[in-house]
Amino acid sequence: MLWIKAFHIIFVVTWFAGLFYLPRLFVYHAMAEDAVSRQRFEVMERKLYYGIMAPGAVLTVVFGLWLWLGYGIGGAWLHAKLVLVVALIGYHLWCGKLINDFKQGRNTRSHVWYRWFNEFPTVILLLVVILAVVKPF
Ligand code: HEM
Repeated sequence: MLWIKAFHIIFVVTWFAGLFYLPRLFVYHAMAEDAVSRQRFEVMERKLYYGIMAPGAVLTVVFGLWLWLGYGIGGAWLHAKLVLVVALIGYHLWCGKLINDFKQGRNTRSHVWYRWFNEFPTVILLLVVILAVVKPF
């Protein structure tokens, strides 16, 4: 079980590397004014999303479900955590849509908007780790 938990945490870290960095790329992408910079951001965003974030997300969920259903670890804290995880998956998918909007030249949002957008995964991480470690209920 400890091996499964170790891999669960490894993939959480992998997923969050992207969840923190991709919206920062959106900030700079929204400020970019020349075609060469924009194309470079498109490549960076696509590789980060499909190469790091997507596998990180899928494997976090696989190992999390394994811990929950395979070892019967759970409780009210886990139900609260799952609600937050569903919100995080929604955020992840929204990032995919934003990548596409940039690619099609349809981005209408400012770099300031992306700076706020960037804060969401921080809040989720704080709450989820407290729920999983402290298990307050
Ligand atoms: C479907 C998604 C997920 C499921 C079903 C799930 C389930 C679980 C379960 C059952 C444990 C074992 C708890 C224990 O041993 O007491 C665990 C541990 C943990 N999970 Fe998740 N998890 C999921 C996603 C996440 C995400 C997205 C994060 C981070 C944001 C996360 C962070 C952690 C951490 C830090 C631990 C270690 C807690 C400890 O042992 O002290 N999990 N998870």
